[in-house]
Amino acid sequence: MDDPHSSYDSTGLVLVLSHDAYLSLVDRLIEANNRYYQTQTAPITDAEFDAGVRELVAFESAFPLLAHPDSPTKQVGAPPADSFSSFHHPTRLFSLNNAMSFSELTQFVQRIQKETPAAIDWALEPKIDGLAVALYYSEGELVTGATRGDGQTGEVVTSNCRTIRNLPSRLPQPLTVEVRGEVYIKKSVFARLKGDYANPRNMASGSLRQLDPRITASRELSFMGYWSNHPDCKSHIELIGWLREMGFDTPHTIPLTGDSATLHDAAIAMMNEAPNWDFESDGIVIKVNRVSLQAELGHTSRAPRWAVAYKFQTEQAMTTLESVTLQVGRTGIVTPVAHVLPVLVKGVVIRRATLHNWDHIHRLGIQVGDAVWVQRAGDVIPEIVGVAHPGHHRIPIMIPTQCPACHMPLHGVEGEVAYRCLNGGCQGQLRGKIKHFVSRDAMSIDGLGEASIDQLIQRGLVASIADLYQLTLDDIRSLDGYAEKSATQLIQAIETSKTQRLDRFIFALGIPQVGKQLAGVVASVGSMATIRETSAEAWASIPDIGEKTGHLIAGWFNNADHQQVLETLFERGVSPAPLPRVEGPLSGVVALITGTLSISRNQLETLIKAKGGMVASSLTQAVTHLIVGDNPGSKIKKAEAMIQKGHPIQLLTGRDWEAFMSMTPHQDEC
Ligand code: IVH
Repeated sequence: MDDPHSSYDSTGLVLVLSHDAYLSLVDRLIEANNRYYQTQTAPITDAEFDAGVRELVAFESAFPLLAHPDSPTKQVGAPPADSFSSFHHPTRLFSLNNAMSFSELTQFVQRIQKETPAAIDWALEPKIDGLAVALYYSEGELVTGATRGDGQTGEVVTSNCRTIRNLPSRLPQPLTVEVRGEVYIKKSVFARLKGDYANPRNMASGSLRQLDPRITASRELSFMGYWSNHPDCKSHIELIGWLREMGFDTPHTIPLTGDSATLHDAAIAMMNEAPNWDFESDGIVIKVNRVSLQAELGHTSRAPRWAVAYKFQTEQAMTTLESVTLQVGRTGIVTPVAHVLPVLVKGVVIRRATLHNWDHIHRLGIQVGDAVWVQRAGDVIPEIVGVAHPGHHRIPIMIPTQCPACHMPLHGVEGEVAYRCLNGGCQGQLRGKIKHFVSRDAMSIDGLGEASIDQLIQRGLVASIADLYQLTLDDIRSLDGYAEKSATQLIQAIETSKTQRLDRFIFALGIPQVGKQLAGVVASVGSMATIRETSAEAWASIPDIGEKTGHLIAGWFNNADHQQVLETLFERGVSPAPLPRVEGPLSGVVALITGTLSISRNQLETLIKAKGGMVASSLTQAVTHLIVGDNPGSKIKKAEAMIQKGHPIQLLTGRDWEAFMSMTPHQDEC
């Protein structure tokens, strides 16, 4: 138990305990559990508790007959303290099984996939680190709020629940339902009120279990709902929507279909957002979305079979924060970088770590000179997650006023805890732009590292991304660290990138909000010329893009500096390869538009292309559909003449085009 991994050998197999060791571990974990639930102080860490439970599970699966009846594997929490009246939950409150690695996640998915061969819809959401409660509403009125306790019997904390501001005491409809969720303390509130509590979860638990509701009220608790027995919800996503309608806050939940690798990637992406959440979280909950499948899968005595908490193997180490430097990114956002005394975390020496932003620094009360915790989790870059103890000589970390690269004044970003350099000529931003432009998912120009980019900029060889395409072999050879061969290879890589795929080129441009996936959507609209001409409204009409991003994209292409860079890139031979035609419901359709419609022509053209169709600019034999709006031109007469001659052009008049846009692949009539 001192080393949570001691029960695993080097092959990852679990070494099963002796019977005596098993019994003493059961005792220790029961004791730890009781102490935790009754006094909110944990004699062992969560990681140690989890590791212990896994050792028990291993023993109990090998020797089921020797399993102790009170083993913590069969219990969820602990019996309630005497001071509250107990409440018997009509249906048991479950815990969640953990998946601690990708292979455990895969096993979870495979177990479910065995039961149902069809593609499974999943829902992913943050795991909120708080205290589970069940809320019972009768005809819309909150009548009982009860803690989970041991899953079957909890404590009545109704008055205390009523002090939670974002927990509705009355629903907008007179429903008799149960809602379950997590009572927690926001990180920002914890920073202010923490007193002697070690972490927000202990504080949430301690605050909800106060006999005097006035004390609870002073603790500023929050609630998020994640379950209900309301019969109208057929999926978890629907349920979350319904909870919102009822006035509950909920975790941000995303639907997803795919295998365990897809789930893993989405979970990592979500986990990367964790520093921005105002609640503690130690993983992502992955749930089967469909309620009927949840019911089919059922549960064990402890946890549902349809959900898992995907926890990231995190490891923390203590070190000293030696200094903080500033870094300006390609969009001009300035971020603090922590430089720490080198320390080994999960086999890697860490020297630098992210401090995220000034809000994070302020919330954790970090100062230079402090002993801090550095954490590495999954694929995420190392981060500073807290102060272990304050240093003797502490230096506060100041909010910057000047850009570290160009020294121009910084500007606050509205609605964000960020500071931005607005100088279009800033070399720090240029460095970030080039780094992004050459990166693997963008133009994929191998062999141009950060240090070389810095030299290119400092020597005035590169002042924009377009300048990469006029570098000579001599320029590269003059940089540190290049020999003849590596310089030739780099020149070759730059040359090859000229015909990089259009979606990667769009991603490489670094348009705000346009990540890898959206770059694919943008590129699907057509050639670079079409993309540049597409209006904000037309972008906005594509469902994946929406109004805000639509304006950003059109605005980016309308900016004179960006137009100049694009022209120069094209002059220097960059000619991205268009994507293969989109397959969609309108594949094979060649449409021509005449007259005025209720949406702009640009918008309709974009929609047709996004659905796999093509848009013609004049009436030729290739045209399959003529969309006729108000005040049509002469094209309609010409088309009618062609139809007379037996040419199969379909005329779409009035609102016909709307039905046409929702056409399915094999319909040829509208
Ligand atoms: S679902 C029957 N979703 O984590 C489904 N639980 O460690 C069981 N928790 O007992 C719960 N965030 O108190 C679910 N988004 C979330 C959650 C969540 C936190 C808690 C819950 C559970 C515990 C297990």
